[in-house]
Amino acid sequence: MFGCAPELHSSESALNPAGPQAERLSSLIWLFTWVCVVVYVLVMAALVGAFVHRRHGAAAADDNGPIEPEPHYERRVWSVVAVAIGVTVVTLFGLLFADFATGRSIERFGRHASPDETLRIEIVGHQWWWEVRYVDWPQRFGERGPSNIVSGANEIHVPVDPQHPVPVECQLDSHDVIHSFWVPNLQGKKDLVPGHPTSIWLRADRVGTYWGECAEYCGYQHAQMRFVVVAEPVEQFNAWLDLQRHSAPEPSNLVQVLGRDVFLRSSCAMCHTIQGTDAAGRVGPDLTHVAGRKVLAAGAVPNVPGHLAGWIVDPQRVKPGTRMPQTALGPLHLRALLEYLETLK
Ligand code: CUA
Repeated sequence: MFGCAPELHSSESALNPAGPQAERLSSLIWLFTWVCVVVYVLVMAALVGAFVHRRHGAAAADDNGPIEPEPHYERRVWSVVAVAIGVTVVTLFGLLFADFATGRSIERFGRHASPDETLRIEIVGHQWWWEVRYVDWPQRFGERGPSNIVSGANEIHVPVDPQHPVPVECQLDSHDVIHSFWVPNLQGKKDLVPGHPTSIWLRADRVGTYWGECAEYCGYQHAQMRFVVVAEPVEQFNAWLDLQRHSAPEPSNLVQVLGRDVFLRSSCAMCHTIQGTDAAGRVGPDLTHVAGRKVLAAGAVPNVPGHLAGWIVDPQRVKPGTRMPQTALGPLHLRALLEYLETLK
């Protein structure tokens, strides 16, 4: 796991479910596993039994000449084989039914969710990062509307509310190639196919920070196309969402003013947005709240000033093939830029 980011230590596993959908899937995995274990043990026992039986038969044949097949013995073999086939067919149909029933029960969470109580998040896959936009949420989390859209990258926050669980609809699309959205602790996988919007429902019942990843090979940096799901108590989620709705703060000293200037005059502003400034690029992630995120470059490095500096100056070294170009900056400008970006909480 990620040694540099100690707060992200929750085990990334479909067998450690933190929500109802993942729980259903985990039960299904265990059912398949145990059925297969029982079948394997029975088959091995039958095999060993057959060897032992044959050894005795061979010893008898040595003594008394060749064994003649006995009709009643033949009949018994056939009935054993017939029963074994029957049990196999029933077992396979049982597993098929369990699989189908799990799929249905997972789907039901979305079908029964009240639209007014749903948190809706648009997620767009890019080579190689996740664009995350909060487009709608239950009224109790504050004002909604087009001017209130919250935009970020590689980090999804969801509320954990035992009294009134909040269903989350992730509306998925891709900007370029096929990606696949997967948070093992919360849900199964869902492909993001360009031009074919789809959605997946999830719900977090346990507070924690969960890794998500791209589960469909999508090019050079497929393995570094990760994201973080922060499942937090309602008050914390509320505070986070409220903060995200605000534009970037004004620089509070001359170094920060210089830093913002560097951002707006260099190539940064052509690809990135910082709300409240003239930077409105849509090619790369929205950086209005970049300093509040846990990871950079879709999970390639933790979000600390040293890694941020390295990422700005030489992104190809951090993540070869990334679409982010190098930005040549002198030490003074780089320092100022970093100081400004650190204010974007
Ligand atoms: Cu995106 Cu693999």
